[in-house]
Amino acid sequence: MKLALFSPAKVNLFFRILNKRADGYHEIASLYQSISLGDRLEVELAGADSLECTDPTLPCDSSNLILRATDLFRKKTGRKIFAKFFLAKQIPIEAGLGGGSSNAATTLWALNELAGRVASEEELTLWAADLGSDVPFFFSSGTAYCTGRGENLKSLAPLNEVEKYWIIKPDGGLSTPLVYKNTDLSLIPNRDPEKSLEAFLQGNPDYFNDLEYASFKLEPSLAQLKSQLVESGFHTALMTGSGTAFFCKGSKTPPNIPGARFFSVGFVNKKREKWYEFPEFC
Ligand code: C5P
Repeated sequence: MKLALFSPAKVNLFFRILNKRADGYHEIASLYQSISLGDRLEVELAGADSLECTDPTLPCDSSNLILRATDLFRKKTGRKIFAKFFLAKQIPIEAGLGGGSSNAATTLWALNELAGRVASEEELTLWAADLGSDVPFFFSSGTAYCTGRGENLKSLAPLNEVEKYWIIKPDGGLSTPLVYKNTDLSLIPNRDPEKSLEAFLQGNPDYFNDLEYASFKLEPSLAQLKSQLVESGFHTALMTGSGTAFFCKGSKTPPNIPGARFFSVGFVNKKREKWYEFPEFC
């Protein structure tokens, strides 16, 4: 049997950095949302692991999160199963859109289906944290308040957002560890993330991202891009995760930005025991 699964990107509707921990990670609080921009991951059991991808810039060796997730699944379940993967990549890399994390979560879910559901979704969510802080989120409802280093999640009801967003990915990416390393906590406003969540759920969203300070310092053109997006008519233009993609709201026509890629997206959600469905709109 071959599975073909949708592996969605995510955005952070707000992103608060609370402090730096002794283990080097940062304590965060963020509202995560999965979106209709995503990859197609095809998976079938095979005699050995292999991975092919439409994006030649993406390493397909054992460092790829899909193969790392496969290895982890074998270790956790004790099942000697191997798989052949084909990844049709749509999610820009080094964008803060969680593409690699989503692929890893989709892999865990797919292998568990192909192995006959040997693990529960709770177990898969727990194991996902070994692969990265953003990976567990994809086992949520698709709308989740994430805390800790990002791996503690509280699934929320879908946000009922009907308006489309634009994802704008400028040329060039940023490395997540580098952005965190350049974060100066003394520059960040002291907001209470629980209040931000409450306001968001009551329909008074305050879109902010504490990682913007470090990303803009590392790549000043991102600050210029944000101003350009606002001047062009978007009332919201916010970098997602550690960048360099922005999600924008409130304008039908994005400006012409040389080298940038544009995606019109909506929110998507996942039902329990099921994976994300391919969206009708993209
Ligand atoms: O968890 P993940 O492997 O995605 O994290 C990559 C790097 O990003 C970490 O090694 C750490 O430097 C940084 N990070 C952090 N705080 C977080 C998540 C990631 O400092 N909450």
